[in-house]
Amino acid sequence: MRAVTWQGRHKISVDTVPDPEIVNPRDAILQVTSTAICGSDLHLYDGYIPGMRAGDVVGHEFMGKVIEVGAQSSLKVGQRVVVPFTISCGQCFFCEKQQFSACDNANPSETRDASEMMMGHAMGGAFGYAHLTGGYAGGQADYVRVPYSDIGPVVIPDDMPDDDVLFLSDILPTGWQAAVNADIEPGDTVAIWGCGPVGLFAIQSALLLGAERVIAIDHFPARLALARRYGADILDYTQVNVREALDEMTGGIGPDACIDCVGMESHGFTVDNVVDRVKVQLMLATDRPHALRQAILACRKGGRVSIPVVYGGFADKFPLGQLMEKGLTIKSGQTHVQRYTGDLLKMIQDGKFDMTSLISHHASLEDAADMYRNWHDKQNEYTKIVLKPGLAKGETVTRSQLEHA
Ligand SMILES: NC(=O)c1ccc[n+]([C@@H]2O[C@H](COP(=O)([O-])OP(=O)(O)OC[C@H]3O[C@@H](n4cnc5c(N)ncnc54)[C@H](O)[C@@H]3O)[C@@H](O)[C@H]2O)c1
Ligand SMILES: [Zn+2]
Ligand SMILES: [Zn+2]
Repeated sequence: MRAVTWQGRHKISVDTVPDPEIVNPRDAILQVTSTAICGSDLHLYDGYIPGMRAGDVVGHEFMGKVIEVGAQSSLKVGQRVVVPFTISCGQCFFCEKQQFSACDNANPSETRDASEMMMGHAMGGAFGYAHLTGGYAGGQADYVRVPYSDIGPVVIPDDMPDDDVLFLSDILPTGWQAAVNADIEPGDTVAIWGCGPVGLFAIQSALLLGAERVIAIDHFPARLALARRYGADILDYTQVNVREALDEMTGGIGPDACIDCVGMESHGFTVDNVVDRVKVQLMLATDRPHALRQAILACRKGGRVSIPVVYGGFADKFPLGQLMEKGLTIKSGQTHVQRYTGDLLKMIQDGKFDMTSLISHHASLEDAADMYRNWHDKQNEYTKIVLKPGLAKGETVTRSQLEHA
C-alpha cells in the first residue's frame, strides 16, 4: 500500500510499504477515505518529538471503511468509522475512569521504558506518533490497523460526508476538552491563544459551553477571520500588546479562563521567545512556551488555565510564583477522545459546530510531502489539509464533489 512516512527532520515521503494485517482478535483493518494533517504532525516534522524512526508511517486523524475484522471486533465489514487518535483498551484502571489517553495497556512493553523514564510513567498509545507512544503505524495511508476496534471507532451514518465527521478523530474533541477544562461559567470571558484548528474548535466549544465572550489571539489574517466567523473577538499579537489589550477588554481584571492552543512552538520575537529559540537550538531546552507564560500572566486572579497543546519536557522561565500567588487552576492533557465522541457526533448532527469552513485544501495522499511543507511554511493560506488516498498526484476535489460522491 501507499503510506506517508517520516524520514527525518523536514523529510516526509510517500512510499510503498507492506499492507497491515490483523494481529489481535480485537483489531480491524480500515481502508482510509480521509486523513488530516495536524499541528501535532508539525512537531514531528520539525523534529521535536523523540522516538521517531525513519520509515515510520505517520497520521493520527483518519477515517475509513472497515474491510476486515478480528474475531472480537464489534465492527462489521463495510461500516464507515472515524477512529480516535488515542489507542485505549477500554478495560484498565485509567480507561475505566474514562481517562482514555492514559491507557496503561495500549503502549506495548518494548516501548514503555523510554517513555516511563522521560515522563515518570509510561504514556498511552497513539497512532503515528513515535515509539514513546507505542510506535503504531498511522493512518496517512491506504490502509491502517486499528487495535481495540471494539472500543474506539465511531460508526458514521451513510448520509454524513467525511468532512463533517473526520475531526471527531482529534481536533474537535481536543478543542472541546480544552474548553471543558477551562471550567467555563455563564458570563465568563475566555481568552484563547492560537487560531489553528485546535484553537478554532476551542472557540466554538467555549461559546457552546456558555462563555459570554471569547477573545482569540493569533497573527495570521485568514485564521483570525475564521475565529471571528465562529464568534470570537480577535487580537493580532503583532499589532497590540496582548496583556494590555486583555486587561482593557476585561475592566482591568483579566480573562476568567485562558486556553493555550499554541504549544511548544510559539512564534514571535518577544525577548523570552528569542531566548527559548536559542536554547532549544542548543538543546538546552525542549519548548518555546511564550503563549503559556503570557496566558498565566494575563489570567485574572483565581482564574483557570487550560493546556490542550503539546509540550516536550521541561519549560524554562515558567511563571510558577505568578501561578501560585494568583491562585490559578491548571488543567491539561492529551484528549480522552473516546469520552466525548458520542455526544459530539450528536452535536454535529444538530448543527452545533461549523465542521468544514476551516478546511482549506483537499489533496492526494501522493502529495503529502508538499502538503507538509505548505502546512509548515504557509499557515495563513493552509488552515487545515485533508488528504484523500486514491486520488492521483496533483488531483484535488471540491467540497461539492465530496458531498455528492
Ligand atoms: N491534547 C491533545 O490531545 C492534542 C490534540 C491535537 C493537537 N494538539 C496540539 O495542539 C496544538 C495546536 O494544534 P493546531 O493543529 O491548532 O496547530 P497549528 O500549528 O495550526 O496552530 C497553532 C497556532 O498558534 C498560533 N501562534 C503561534 N504563536 C503564537 C503566539 N505567540 N500567540 C498567539 N498565537 C500564536 C499560530 O499562528 C497558529 O495559528 C499543537 O501543539 C498540537 O500538538 C494536542
Ligand atoms: Zn491531531
Ligand atoms: Zn486502557
